[in-house]
Amino acid sequence: MKTFRIAPSILSADFARLGEEVRDVIGAGADWIHFDVMDNHYVPNLTFGPMVCQALRKHSSAPIDVHLMVQPVDALAQAFCKAGADLVSFHPDASTHVDRTLQLIKAEGCQAGLVFNPAEPLDVLEWVLDKVDLILIMSVNPGFGGQSFIPGALRKIEQARKLIDASGRDIRLQVDGGIKVDNIRRAADAGADTFVAGSAIFGQADYRGVIQAMRAELAR
Ligand code: DX5
Ligand code: ZN
Repeated sequence: MKTFRIAPSILSADFARLGEEVRDVIGAGADWIHFDVMDNHYVPNLTFGPMVCQALRKHSSAPIDVHLMVQPVDALAQAFCKAGADLVSFHPDASTHVDRTLQLIKAEGCQAGLVFNPAEPLDVLEWVLDKVDLILIMSVNPGFGGQSFIPGALRKIEQARKLIDASGRDIRLQVDGGIKVDNIRRAADAGADTFVAGSAIFGQADYRGVIQAMRAELAR
């Protein structure tokens, strides 16, 4: 099992002070910055694009983990790599040619991830696991922060963990949506090693306190 990583989603940050928010949350002990890109087409919400990623790049040396909720995928995936992203994940149902999109991301020097919505099977992984650096299991339907964790995601995390272990490859298993101090341990027990949390961290006054409480749960 890999070292646990906590990736706060800036979707719940104060957009008027994004640079400061990124510095604060990394200073409070976060490992990655999770960057939720929404296009009002693939999901019914609109956030930020590559220019904001490029601007934030200067505020932290922590990895920027871009979660694309956009359609089409390819041009934006490449633009985010050029804008300083370390990892770019996309939803397979949003890409016309999943294998090609994975290759494009890797050719730009980024790591590549595939994201699975609550009602989607992991079937596509059978054919592209060799090109994937991260599997993201959605534990809410994509589009909004602050939703409740869907328990069925735990069984899918277990399935993904089995596929990763059988492959012998170095692949992170991330969970995104409704992660809080009181359920992070359950996601870890199912096999997740990387945890996105938006409202649980940015919604609170004490970022360090929440991140430490999450790590304490993971260490239990
Ligand atoms: C939802 C996003 C999540 C979201 C998580 O579409 O992908 O990253 O911001 O927010 P919380 O932790 O509040 O569910
Ligand atoms: Zn996300």
